[in-house]
Amino acid sequence: MKVLVATEKPFAKAAVDGIRNIVEGAGHKLALLEKYTSVDELYAAVADADALIVRSDKVSKEVVNAAKNLKIVVRAGAGYDNLDLAACSEKGIVAMNTPGQNSNAVAELAIGMMIYASRNCFAPGTGSELKGKTIGIHAYGNVGRLVAKLAKGFDMNVLAFDPFVSKEAIIKDGVTPVDSIEELYRKSHFLSLHIPATAETKKSVGYDLVTKLPKGGCLVNTARKEVINEDELIKAMEERTDIKYITDIAADNQQILNEKFANRVFASPKKMGAETAEANVNAGLASANQIVKFFTSGDKTFQVNK
Ligand code: 3PG
Repeated sequence: MKVLVATEKPFAKAAVDGIRNIVEGAGHKLALLEKYTSVDELYAAVADADALIVRSDKVSKEVVNAAKNLKIVVRAGAGYDNLDLAACSEKGIVAMNTPGQNSNAVAELAIGMMIYASRNCFAPGTGSELKGKTIGIHAYGNVGRLVAKLAKGFDMNVLAFDPFVSKEAIIKDGVTPVDSIEELYRKSHFLSLHIPATAETKKSVGYDLVTKLPKGGCLVNTARKEVINEDELIKAMEERTDIKYITDIAADNQQILNEKFANRVFASPKKMGAETAEANVNAGLASANQIVKFFTSGDKTFQVNK
């Protein structure tokens, strides 16, 4: 079988070496398409691939159609909003993610961004500390849980809202569950976003929620830009001149945000949440192992297009 790793943002060398060992060790062939600049390169590379490993690379209907032999695609990471699941299902292609493998990297970055924001983006002047402040975790999944754990180490008061996680499970971690999303935003100096981008969550964080943040509130986005209603965020930040927006994923309107709210916004030049050697190795190797297991025994444990 031919396994293609197609990564516009390549894995660290250690991850690629590890993937190669697993794939070739199981008797399969490995092909690499890194730092590609046009989708045509992806169409050509995927044409005879049996398996595909990607990061945030878009696996659109066109990519699926170009991949005549494809049986499995693994998104090396958590969010699989870049995969056209319907197109995969239509062709009988199994789509998977690698949940949890890069969560620590994202959680550390979220905390780092909070420190950066509370120290005035490292501009001279008096900042503030995380200690004693309240952090609201919006969605208590793999990343949210780790952010909560790290925040407790900073002596922060940790709240969480997640309708899909029981209050008991949240309390067991020493975190306080709140009853509504509005309550979470109303009480949180730092609001850390960890919702996936789905039809339900897209543009779901807008004026009503952002303006609920307490004075000096800071919205930290290490999730997806799509979950923000950008027009409403701008409106909220125009009215509330105390609110900050710190994001790892530049908004579509980032230039407008930068111009309007110079000292209150920051966006990473390129999404860097999972961009650590450790996360690359964890997610890359997990992807390769999942593919080998699938070909060996039909294992579909992390399938997301059931
Ligand atoms: C994820 O969903 O796992 C992260 O956003 C990582 O994305 P990346 O592989 O593009 O860094």
